[in-house]
Amino acid sequence: MSYTARRYDFHDKSADYARLVQDLAALLAGESDLVANLANTAALIFAALPEVNWAGFYFLRGGELVLGPFQGKPACVRIALGQGVCGAAAVQRRTLIVPDVQKFPGHIACDAASRAEIVVPLIDGASLLGVLDIDSPQAARFDEADARGLEALVRALVARSAVGTRPP
Ligand code: SME
Repeated sequence: MSYTARRYDFHDKSADYARLVQDLAALLAGESDLVANLANTAALIFAALPEVNWAGFYFLRGGELVLGPFQGKPACVRIALGQGVCGAAAVQRRTLIVPDVQKFPGHIACDAASRAEIVVPLIDGASLLGVLDIDSPQAARFDEADARGLEALVRALVARSAVGTRPP
């Protein structure tokens, strides 16, 4: 494991996300346990991205989303498919950017400070493994550049992790 706390300002999101993917690859080198890799990925995102108050994962398990490794305040444990931003992104299998969570029908508030949210599905081949969820206290915090960067990060994470190592 090697990780140096690099500072990012995300003024050039495309370049900084590309560096973040490189840092993630170094961080995960030699380790394929999915839960361990999700834990370190959540910590890396939380440390690197400005204006973020929650970053973590939900696993698709038994037809619902169940809380996985995360950084931030304690969060709701189970989310039904189709419910909230996470459940909607899981069903639609696409990244959802929510500029104002108070205007998203059915948004599940885990931290009253959250104003904006982005959810990126974790897909391995044809299988949905779960979602990456990031919250921000700043409205309209996430844009298409964040979506593309985080999708690349998630692809690198899934490619380096053995799916069989996830919990049942
Ligand atoms: N806001 C999410 C719930 C998870 S928390 O933000 C950590 C949602 O609406 O799905």
